[in-house]
Amino acid sequence: MRQFLTFRQACLALSSAVVLSACEKKADDTAVPLGGSISLDGAVAPAPAPAPGDYNGPAGGSNTINQFDAMAFGMPSPALSGQETQYHNTGQANFAQVFSLQQLAPLWNNESCSGCHVNGGRSKAGTDPTIPQLLFRVSIPGVADDGGPNPVPGFGNQIQPFIVGSDGTRVVGPEGKVTITYQEQLKSFVDGQSYSLRTPTYTPTASLPANVMISPRIGPQAAGLGLLEAVSEQDIMANADPNDRNNDGITGHENRVWDVAMQRTVIGRFGWKANQPNLLQQAAAAFNGDLGITSPFFPQESNVPGGGMNKTGPGVKLQSSGLNSLTAAAATLKNANPNAQTDIDVDGLFSTAFYTGTLAVPAARNTNDPQVIAGRAVFVAAKCAACHKPMFKTSGTAPYGLGNQTIHPYTDLLLHDMGPGLADNRPDYLASGSEWRTAPLWGTGLSQTTSNHTNYLHDGRARNVMEAIMWHGGEGETSRRYVEQLSQTDRDALVAFVNSL
Ligand code: HEC
Ligand code: HEC
Repeated sequence: MRQFLTFRQACLALSSAVVLSACEKKADDTAVPLGGSISLDGAVAPAPAPAPGDYNGPAGGSNTINQFDAMAFGMPSPALSGQETQYHNTGQANFAQVFSLQQLAPLWNNESCSGCHVNGGRSKAGTDPTIPQLLFRVSIPGVADDGGPNPVPGFGNQIQPFIVGSDGTRVVGPEGKVTITYQEQLKSFVDGQSYSLRTPTYTPTASLPANVMISPRIGPQAAGLGLLEAVSEQDIMANADPNDRNNDGITGHENRVWDVAMQRTVIGRFGWKANQPNLLQQAAAAFNGDLGITSPFFPQESNVPGGGMNKTGPGVKLQSSGLNSLTAAAATLKNANPNAQTDIDVDGLFSTAFYTGTLAVPAARNTNDPQVIAGRAVFVAAKCAACHKPMFKTSGTAPYGLGNQTIHPYTDLLLHDMGPGLADNRPDYLASGSEWRTAPLWGTGLSQTTSNHTNYLHDGRARNVMEAIMWHGGEGETSRRYVEQLSQTDRDALVAFVNSL
């Protein structure tokens, strides 16, 4: 019955030549990077620490809204034209659409995008395996032909629990479920105040190879993603410091991932390890992998040999894979295979990607509150901003009101070693088993309102902001230690600041 085969059987390491050719610059990338400086040997020195002014201004530039209710992460950007808002709304309908079991078959995780990204917010890390919000990526040692993780024979790159049973209803299939248990560990701050961290254990019910590597991930919140796609590669690279030239113990580097549309390796931006290059590919991969929904971008189901999220995708090269030339890419895809029989068509896919790229960012709140102002000073002193960069300016060429915006995402989009406590021990392109992309902090404080929970970090193990901070190890160790010795007043102020974002 089962005909699962790996969709990336070849095991070719990427040659460095391929990686280098991927460092191709965009037209606007010739200027000296923001905040960076060119040293005598021509190398770019790490950008200096953020200035106080970097913290001020609307979170998403002209994409900012003053809406703080349950739909705060699910609103169209006010910078869109009327026609663009309509297209955004079409995408929203696709994002919310609950697909039929026939469409979802043969294998899937959830029935809609919004089933995991509820209200555009983050998923909850519950322990009830019948609520499939936590996603488990799996692979075995080695590298796939696109430089990414090596899929598990018979399973592919993620555990997809559901299939249509013989009685025509949804049942758990051969890939099984993963049960989650937590172990509490009581700890204390230097002032004696105690806190508890819960360490998860994940147990798959299916029998996976002994050398399987499992990476648990919750769905992140979606607001402001188009602005992160619009940050130029050069501005991201200005903060990279792989050899720690500024001696601060923090060595961020970028991920380099396979861009299916462009058929080359490019900088990674999305996902907890920055393993996706842009929102179009992210949406196509989510449809294919998370929902079992084929599209013209990934036209074959994930259990078809050579199908799923494969290296060649639609089999044609698109002009661009980002929001930048979505219309041209859509036309190419339509012409390439006008009679493709896929679960969704080009417009369904592209409008969904457009939707995820044109969500407004809720403004920071309580910015004049003395506690929040004090918390910002603690954030600076604790060197949180070494990774959670408060400010970027988006590239001038970005469309749909996303360009030339001063934004405050509190991420550098780089990978950092966060220590053994947070490690999934599963490499993802250039991200090691203990490296994660700095999580953007904008909107953090609205999680309770939008999603009815405050589960943070890649697998939602942290139950509040302070727990998330106390999990920081590796390059984040110095920040954690700093917070550990703070007074209760200063700790509360720091949390108040993060929750104001
Ligand atoms: C089963 C739960 C689940 C479903 C269903 C799901 N997602 Fe996700 N989504 C995730 C997870 C988990 C991640 C992080 C992936 C990673 O790190 O590899 C993610 C990441 C994303 C991101 C990148 C966010 C960021 O901050 O980098 C976007 C955009 C996204 N999903 C869009 C979609 C769309 C569009 C759909 C529907 C086609 C969808 N998702 C369906 C769980 C889900
Ligand atoms: C070395 C870089 C680095 C430093 C320094 C750092 N962080 Fe982080 N932070 C990260 C990374 C990477 C993640 C994601 C880790 C994960 O999900 O496992 C993260 C996650 C978080 C989260 C959870 C966000 C979410 O969406 O789940 C919060 C809150 C946070 N950091 C706050 C802080 C604060 C406050 C400080 C300073 C005390 C700080 N961080 C210092 C890199 C850093």
